[in-house]
Amino acid sequence: MITQEQMPMLAIPSMNDTHLEESLLINKLSSVVEKSDLEAIFIVLNELLVHTRLHYLDEEKLMQESQYPDFEAHKKDHDRHLHEIKSVIAYFEKHQEPRAVYAYIEGNLTSWVRHHTDTKDRTLALFLKEEKVREED
Ligand SMILES: [Fe+2]
Repeated sequence: MITQEQMPMLAIPSMNDTHLEESLLINKLSSVVEKSDLEAIFIVLNELLVHTRLHYLDEEKLMQESQYPDFEAHKKDHDRHLHEIKSVIAYFEKHQEPRAVYAYIEGNLTSWVRHHTDTKDRTLALFLKEEKVREED
């Protein structure tokens, strides 16, 4: 589980909105995992994948449009994380073990999301915010 207070707040409101949606999806996943609802776990895992893919595409577009200097490293983080979600889905399809998804959420997913948001996304949001201020000057 991930509470709203645990999600770092950034300088760009739209990024916060997306991260809130992301944390709600992670919690939805936690709750279906707790119930061992196999079908729902499969559905929510795929929802998380689709949401994360769009979320990263949006961020990457913002980075490219603003010629963000840390684009490559930031995108690498995204790619690694997307790959991981896909691996978890593939594993779940094969073994249908809610415990494995639970271990992923608690052992990796929530801490990774918070860390990425607090570091890479925070730096990006500040950069975008400063760029906006420069444009308005
Ligand atoms: Fe990011």
